[in-house]
Amino acid sequence: MATNITWHPSLSHSERTTLLHQPGLTIWLTGLSASGKSTIATALEQHLLHNSYTAYRLDGDNIRFGLNKDLTFSPQDRVENIRRIGEVAKLFADSATVAITSFISPYKADRDLARKLHDDAGLLFVEVHVDVPIDVAEARDPKGLYKKAREGIIKDFTGISAGAPYERPENPEVYIDTSKSSVEEGVQIIVDYLVKRGVLTFPKVSS
Ligand SMILES: Nc1ncnc2c1ncn2[C@@H]1O[C@H](COP(=O)(O)OP(=O)(O)OP(=O)(O)O)[C@@H](O)[C@H]1O
Ligand SMILES: [Mg+2]
Repeated sequence: MATNITWHPSLSHSERTTLLHQPGLTIWLTGLSASGKSTIATALEQHLLHNSYTAYRLDGDNIRFGLNKDLTFSPQDRVENIRRIGEVAKLFADSATVAITSFISPYKADRDLARKLHDDAGLLFVEVHVDVPIDVAEARDPKGLYKKAREGIIKDFTGISAGAPYERPENPEVYIDTSKSSVEEGVQIIVDYLVKRGVLTFPKVSS
């Protein structure tokens, strides 16, 4: 019989983070299409991984290819989309991973639900408003979605269609205006916040 194995009925989140020397939290990026959520999320994920932090990005488009491929863009399915992302991010955060989500998530109620899931589990939830003036977003239009929305090919496009408003976060932990900050500066703003809160150190302390 193995003698060096310690049985623990259920590791708590804090025990897990202590053992792994690794924080678990969710960084929730919200903002208009083309505001820069995926771009900043990718750069942030790489920055954390290069500094030995375990991080994983949950991105709008990618998740809709898999976990949420059964969902449409109807109002009910949009709510369900964000609810599932909130639950999955919570699992990653609980496992001591830095979960980074990049979804438009236009409705305050949906974001608040994701926050509550984390709060109830004692997990840190950091809402990041990736803001940009809509005319700048529309000029970027990397996926050609604004053009399609203007042509009426896409209905209910956030920020463009009357029935699809973007509800701005009232009190996000972090605010970035990507018409004023570069991608690198956007990442730095998030990292600075987490360092100030004592969540991250550079270099990482791993013993
Ligand atoms: N400061 C900046 N921060 C982030 N992206 C920027 C910035 N300046 C220019 N960009 C460009 O803006 C575009 C943002 O596209 P991105 O796919 O990241 O947006 P998104 O918010 O994820 O949109 P969607 O909701 O449609 O997925 C990219 O082409 C990126 O290169
Ligand atoms: Mg994106």
